[in-house]
Amino acid sequence: MTELVRQHLIDPEICIRCNTCEETCPIDAISHDTRNYVVDFEICNWCNDCISPCPTGAIDNYRNVAKSSPYSLAAQLTWDDLPREVEAGAPSEGELPEEVERLTAIAQSGQGGPTTPPWSAAHPYVNLFTPARPVTATVMGNHRLTADGASADIRHIVLDFGAVAFPVLEGQSIGIIPPGTDAAGRALGMRLYSVASPRNGERPDYNNLALTVKRVLEDHEGKPQKGLCSNYVCDLAKGDKVQVCGPYGTTFLMPNHPGSSILMICTGTGSAPMRAMTERRRRRMALEEGGELMLFFGARSADELPYFGPLTKLPKQLIDVNFAFSRVPGQPKRYVQQLLRQRHEDVMRLLADDNCYIYICGLKGMEAGVEEALRDICRDHGADWQEMLPRLRAQSRYHVETY
Ligand code: FAD
Ligand code: A2P
Repeated sequence: MTELVRQHLIDPEICIRCNTCEETCPIDAISHDTRNYVVDFEICNWCNDCISPCPTGAIDNYRNVAKSSPYSLAAQLTWDDLPREVEAGAPSEGELPEEVERLTAIAQSGQGGPTTPPWSAAHPYVNLFTPARPVTATVMGNHRLTADGASADIRHIVLDFGAVAFPVLEGQSIGIIPPGTDAAGRALGMRLYSVASPRNGERPDYNNLALTVKRVLEDHEGKPQKGLCSNYVCDLAKGDKVQVCGPYGTTFLMPNHPGSSILMICTGTGSAPMRAMTERRRRRMALEEGGELMLFFGARSADELPYFGPLTKLPKQLIDVNFAFSRVPGQPKRYVQQLLRQRHEDVMRLLADDNCYIYICGLKGMEAGVEEALRDICRDHGADWQEMLPRLRAQSRYHVETY
């Protein structure tokens, strides 16, 4: 069991940045940048000298955290508000289930990962609920995203967590445990699904989240095979209860600093984290924080592309959307890598921008082709991909999750 400790924090929403706490602290545990005042977990000795002089009470805040992973100063400096308190008694940040370690390792086995999150990513909660102690969510909606005649049945599933805190960030996934047992009577293993909604809920400030799930009817080689969990999830009806564990994922997280850009490359349900990040940025558009969003999205046709309608309606000043359709009658086959090449000037500009973070998600097969396109683009612009990739990784700017 993880050892929990209390961490002293300052609420950035209330703090008026008057510097009183920093001046009062006798051991220099409090510091600030242009944005936030923060408390160093390693230095604070709980003398409480700072508490009463604070004019707003922003200083009087605390969270339970795993002793091994308190909120870092870098994380606190990015906050707009305090993270939610995790439900008392919920398991916290213990060892990840072996299955999650295994699946994550496969998903991040390419050149992209494992890596570290962008410096301005928010602190993710992981492993709050385990297969042995899952949380029960209620299905609030199950809506088909692909057109009626499309070959793929991809669904938008909304899960509600009621009064239980289940904090997630864009780019994280959750585990779903299908009901029933295997031939040996053992509980069935969980499957991972990327969260498709922003951190403040599918419906803003509701305790819910969305998933983008494809009904698997054949294996990767095209042989008929009914996927166990995806069919269970795609058949769920409003009001059904689902056993959920997680959240999982500590690196495929979006940057939060003003001016940061995001280059997204995906196919199929790999669009889930991209939708989450895009929606987060859409909801904050009025803040005019700057930065660009550029999306390359591959599907067989418009009918097979999840969120096609909503994506085409997004404001052009928010996102530059590029669709690659591979099976449109009378048109040449197009993959995302071809579109990357076509948009080489913008792609090169973003690759060279230290504030641009790159995310690739979806079919495993796409990864090599995308990398080849990026290598060619670099070469044509007098840069060297072999030299750039390690730099991107060292800067936590290149993230791949394929399955
Ligand atoms: P199983 O019963 O486990 O497998 C049936 C057969 O189908 C097997 O032969 C298997 O190899 C093959 N198969 C497995 N997955 C696929 C697939 N995606 N396409 C074609 N064949 C497959 N899935 C989503 O739909 N949406 C997501 O957002 C999503 N996010 C994921 C995030 C991560 C990090 C990972 C690792 C996986 C993610 N997946 C996602 C895949 C998901 O976890 C399951 O693997 C998928 O739903 C199939 O599970 P199943 O139980 O239906 O099939
Ligand atoms: P294709 O028509 O050749 O299958 P899916 O519908 O199977 O989830 O695939 C999503 C999209 O990704 C489809 O357009 C598919 O094209 C395309 N795709 C398949 N293989 C690759 C690859 N190696 N690189 C890029 N895109 C790919």
